[in-house]
Amino acid sequence: MTARASAGPLAAIAAPAWIDRWLAACHDLAELERSNPMTDAVIEEIDGRMIRVGDQWLADFASCNYLGFDLEREIIDAVPAYLEKWGTHPSWSRLLGSPVLYTQIEDRLSELLGAEDTLVLPTITLIHMSVIPVLAGSGTIYVESRAHKTIYEGCQLAGARGATVKRFQFEDADDLERLLKEGGPTPRLICIDGVNSMTGNAVDLAEFARLARAYEALLYVDDAHGFGVIGERSDDELSPFGNRGNGIVRYAGDTYDHVLLVAGLSKAYSSLAAFLTCPPELKRLLKTAAPPYLYSGPSPIASLATVLAGLDVNDKRGDAVRAGLWRRTAAVLDHLDRLGVHTPNRSGFPIIEVPLAHHEDIDAVGRFLFDNGIYVTLAAYPLVPRSEVGFRIQVTAANTDAEIEQLTDALGRLVTRFDLQPARTSERAA
Ligand SMILES: Cc1ncc(COP(=O)(O)O)c(C=O)c1O
Repeated sequence: MTARASAGPLAAIAAPAWIDRWLAACHDLAELERSNPMTDAVIEEIDGRMIRVGDQWLADFASCNYLGFDLEREIIDAVPAYLEKWGTHPSWSRLLGSPVLYTQIEDRLSELLGAEDTLVLPTITLIHMSVIPVLAGSGTIYVESRAHKTIYEGCQLAGARGATVKRFQFEDADDLERLLKEGGPTPRLICIDGVNSMTGNAVDLAEFARLARAYEALLYVDDAHGFGVIGERSDDELSPFGNRGNGIVRYAGDTYDHVLLVAGLSKAYSSLAAFLTCPPELKRLLKTAAPPYLYSGPSPIASLATVLAGLDVNDKRGDAVRAGLWRRTAAVLDHLDRLGVHTPNRSGFPIIEVPLAHHEDIDAVGRFLFDNGIYVTLAAYPLVPRSEVGFRIQVTAANTDAEIEQLTDALGRLVTRFDLQPARTSERAA
């Protein structure tokens, strides 16, 4: 079957060549979407971190609600009062007017992060698509080869508007420096992930920030998976994730000099919103230069409410929640070690990818885990290179010990049925 034929209704329109190429690249994923119960599922009910798909109850290890704030009673109970006061949805674009809740969130985020100021927009995707082109202008973007797909979308748009886009090797500061030394149009923008969404590891932020400062570039960091989970280090921290969950810059003990942090509230804070750190003059510029501020619908009131209530809970007991998350994640990583199974996770952070020895097994492995009551993210090609096709476990603070045990039992059975990649020398840091 050709990619065009598999496009169904798309066959009726004159699809441009890039659609054919894209659909061909996504062929493996499209097959899973059609046939595997672990993708595109309809979740009919939840009970804590258990989910029901059809008749099957599964322990959910695919959620990014790392802190379990989606189920936190204090946060849920806070919402109705905000709805009473503000209705369900502001429905002004932000340039027209923003409920004061936005100002409160931006002030509190700035304080938490230790940044001069922040700007809240609905999603990280919208931030990448609108802010990267503004920052890059007709200069040069240096993008890490495995940066998140949404960063690439922003870079492509910037490219269409006159920026030059260069790609450097994953986690390779030397390769970046080689490109920086080549020169090229300014301004210079370096785009990377903070905690990588597939490996679960943190970038060497201090080294990339040093290069940004040395070459008069701006380091643009997408910390969707780090914010809320990792934060500033201290001698009295309750876990190796650090304190306060204030993101990778503080975790690395660095500053926002030549560094711009982007993160979402839709993962750790379980709310539809996202933000970037920015000095006041950049914030002013973005209010008229970033289209989502002018034209897009805002976050629903319930999401603004859950951000504010989530920040309260984070202040009160966030570090204890993170300590529980660290303990649960460590239990899974230790079990993989005992099974002799490889994961790229060296950090101890709660994203654990398990690559298969044979990428063709992905469909059967997904079914096996589903039948054993475990819901994970299937990492098919092209989401990861073929050598890393497998599944991604995300641990959250709301997963119970019983669910962790259910997962480790299922992994024990899985290794008797399928070949996973053998463990390499343990590099785990945390
Ligand atoms: C690293 C990273 N960046 C960006 C996004 C997209 O975030 P949003 O849903 O806020 O657009 C994701 C979503 O999974 C992500 O993992």
